[in-house]
Amino acid sequence: MKALVLSGGRGTRLRPITHTGAKQLIPVANKPVLFYGLEAIVDAGIKDVGIVVGETKEEIKKAVSTGKKWGLRVTYIEQEVPLGLAHAVKISQEYLGDEPFVMYLGDNLIKEGITSLVREFKRKRPDALILLSRVKEPQRFGVAELEKGKIVRLTEKPKRPKSDLALVGIYMFDKNIFEAVNNIKPSFRKEYEITDAIQYLIDKKYKVRSHIIQGWWKDTGKVEDVLEANRLILEIIQTKIEGKVDGDSRVTGRVIIEKGAKIINSVIRGPAIIGRKSKIVNSYIGPFTSIYWGTTIKNSEIEHSIVLEETSIDSISGRINESLIGKGVSIFKTKAKPQSYRFTLGDRSRIEVI
Ligand code: TTP
Repeated sequence: MKALVLSGGRGTRLRPITHTGAKQLIPVANKPVLFYGLEAIVDAGIKDVGIVVGETKEEIKKAVSTGKKWGLRVTYIEQEVPLGLAHAVKISQEYLGDEPFVMYLGDNLIKEGITSLVREFKRKRPDALILLSRVKEPQRFGVAELEKGKIVRLTEKPKRPKSDLALVGIYMFDKNIFEAVNNIKPSFRKEYEITDAIQYLIDKKYKVRSHIIQGWWKDTGKVEDVLEANRLILEIIQTKIEGKVDGDSRVTGRVIIEKGAKIINSVIRGPAIIGRKSKIVNSYIGPFTSIYWGTTIKNSEIEHSIVLEETSIDSISGRINESLIGKGVSIFKTKAKPQSYRFTLGDRSRIEVI
């Protein structure tokens, strides 16, 4: 069995972060989202992975390389225009050949991994196995309608959902999916939808099975979802202090302080993670916060947030909360007159002030 990991796309909902980087590489608990997926694939015993890449291909290639560090054989498949999930399958036909495969959306996270699902697929050998999860806002997802436990209809982002069962971004297919992706038409949003391809299989009486997952699943397409994924992963970390914590600092709860990080006269209240070579000075880092590498936080307070690499936050008087802050960002209290807010912001930035 092979795996197909989708790491192209536009990432419009995560702008401006995605103006300068791939959304699949946003760190969640200081590890790129994509790496969780690759690890789940490795755990399921799969060795051959095709990664679909788009505009951010160089960055993805740099991060994953040959895949050797996971024991994987990675092949990159270039998608010139992100024309949809089913289009990504279409262009991967040559790579996948006749082998069944698991398709994994590179920005998805699933608590229970995929090992038992891959086993179930291999044992029952349907033409497709799709995963479903009960969600609060089904209208945001592809939604499945079941009758007597059998899947009868899939609708992409329905206005009036017929169930609360959302399609998880992990699917297992055999070669019949190519017949489907080669026969469907683009949707009203001009994308080849994977829901339409699966509906094609259902209509043509191919065996499409579903499995309702019990553990959590997160699609990190929006800022709230990235922060929530970060919270869910930090919930299960174990304390590991490899950096330096000075005598004036207090570290409580489950906290990871990576090598070369320095905590000076600060309070770190876990679960939290401070990346290598980051410096926390006279500050408070509260629960559910991930600080990536080489970042400095001085005289400030932050919680429920993610800060990317090489950013600097200095002397901010209010507490920073529920924020996703990109790389190389500077946020500091000005000494210049007049005392005023000065912003240099990328398109679609979002600032909330008190
Ligand atoms: P989406 O989040 O559905 O799409 P997107 O990345 O274009 O984001 P947005 O809606 O915010 O603009 O994509 C799910 C995953 O599949 C994600 O990892 C990107 C990837 N993808 C592709 O590789 N090719 C594609 O054509 C599309 C649409 C997505």
